[in-house]
Amino acid sequence: MGFSNVNHQLLSEIATNDQHGENSSYFDGWKAYDSDPFHPTQNPNGVIQLGLAENQLSFDLIEEWIKENPRASICTTEGVSKFRDIAIFQDYHGLPEFRSGIAKFMERVRGGRVRYDPDRIVMSGGATGANELMMFCLADPGDAFLVPAPYYPGFDRDLKWRTRVQLLPVICESSNNFQITKAALEEAYERAKEASIKVKGLIIANPSNPLGTVLDRETLGSLVSFINEKNIHLVCDEIYAATVFSSPNFISVSEIIQEMECNRDLIHIVYSLSKDMGLPGLRVGIVYSYNDAVVNCARKMSSFGLVSSQTQHFLASLLSDEVFVGKFLAESSKRLAKRHKIFTEGLEEMGISCLKSNAGLFCWMSLRPLLKEATTEAETLLWRVIIKEVKLNVSPGSSFHCMEPGWFRVCFANMDDATVEVALGRIRKFVRQGKEGEATEKKKQWRKNLRLTLSSRIHGEAVMSPHKISPHSPIPHSPLVRAST
Ligand SMILES: Cc1ncc(COP(=O)(O)O)c(C=O)c1O
Repeated sequence: MGFSNVNHQLLSEIATNDQHGENSSYFDGWKAYDSDPFHPTQNPNGVIQLGLAENQLSFDLIEEWIKENPRASICTTEGVSKFRDIAIFQDYHGLPEFRSGIAKFMERVRGGRVRYDPDRIVMSGGATGANELMMFCLADPGDAFLVPAPYYPGFDRDLKWRTRVQLLPVICESSNNFQITKAALEEAYERAKEASIKVKGLIIANPSNPLGTVLDRETLGSLVSFINEKNIHLVCDEIYAATVFSSPNFISVSEIIQEMECNRDLIHIVYSLSKDMGLPGLRVGIVYSYNDAVVNCARKMSSFGLVSSQTQHFLASLLSDEVFVGKFLAESSKRLAKRHKIFTEGLEEMGISCLKSNAGLFCWMSLRPLLKEATTEAETLLWRVIIKEVKLNVSPGSSFHCMEPGWFRVCFANMDDATVEVALGRIRKFVRQGKEGEATEKKKQWRKNLRLTLSSRIHGEAVMSPHKISPHSPIPHSPLVRAST
């Protein structure tokens, strides 16, 4: 202990403060999975990962393309002649063919209704890097960005730590399906003003993580009007743009600003191939700003998080194959729609409802009837039981800053069909246990009994044997994540 204190004194304030934002049940759930990951044969009673928004449903399409296009790689006999050109120093502008491939892909995903200038594409290490880059360009330490809640917990981790920017939630409610209203925006803005906090912008994820919904034209228009009136920035994280799998269509802020008067210098898009193409490991993030000064500054800053030129080279080929891109986008959304249907219908049969959604890699599930009381503590209690006993890593609403207890985000696209069935089976059994309680006790008492069962399980946690660490864990144990799950 003494040793680590001495070490701390040798480090910077940023290195030793607790602002990294991984201190959340969202990341604790990952740890629970990491220490006991499900495997159908080697660890069938392990934790199933329903807390990771990955799109693993269309890998086969990309693998097929790679086999048919060996020249796209510099590590094949067919492609090695390009090795030297690609391996030498690249500046922070990026390969022109990569920027134009990304711009075309973004246009295609937005139905060809907008045009993107490749010279405005700035690279970054995933949307994570791109979002932080935006904060560095637009805000000073102590300044704030408004963010509609519930919101992606990674924002707390990614946007605040190094930049010292604050995030102020705009409270959205289930009574109107968590829509972002003008009144809620005004209220959050006024609250900041009263606390003498300078608001520099509004950041949104459209489609939403965790809701899986898309913003309609009217709401987008009202957001653009709001930021114009206040003369603050609008950062639109459109990382889930191509995960929309049924109507209504995705509408980008780029379309809205074509249709209405606004100061384009205030509009910025963050994009990535992590979700739409399911390639988070390639760390391809993009900033697209309509503001020349921001493009210039972001480009200079991007040298801290460039996309490797090997990846750029590969993706330039892949994305310029328009036939492949068309096929991929259509097939990917078909598969997401099918998986979403299986998942939500399975939950419905058990009496569990989800917010109506048509995008994303997750659904926003309501377990409010299972709460002992409508509090965050009761939600956390239920979440612990789901992880420890039902062995599912779902993410509690409180980690998304949801103001109403009882909502959980459940990811459905990071596993195969068989694992989905196992996960649904576990939930079914859990709910059935509650119903059996109803039969043995007096009518309408089952929920209360279930709550009692849950709470006795929680108290029994201390005597449970420690989880075995699975050799199949893909994630190294992180010392940054709290051990308690
Ligand atoms: C809304 C949102 N933004 C950014 C990210 C980070 O994406 P990337 O892997 O491209 O850094 C995620 C990942 O879950 C996300 O949901």
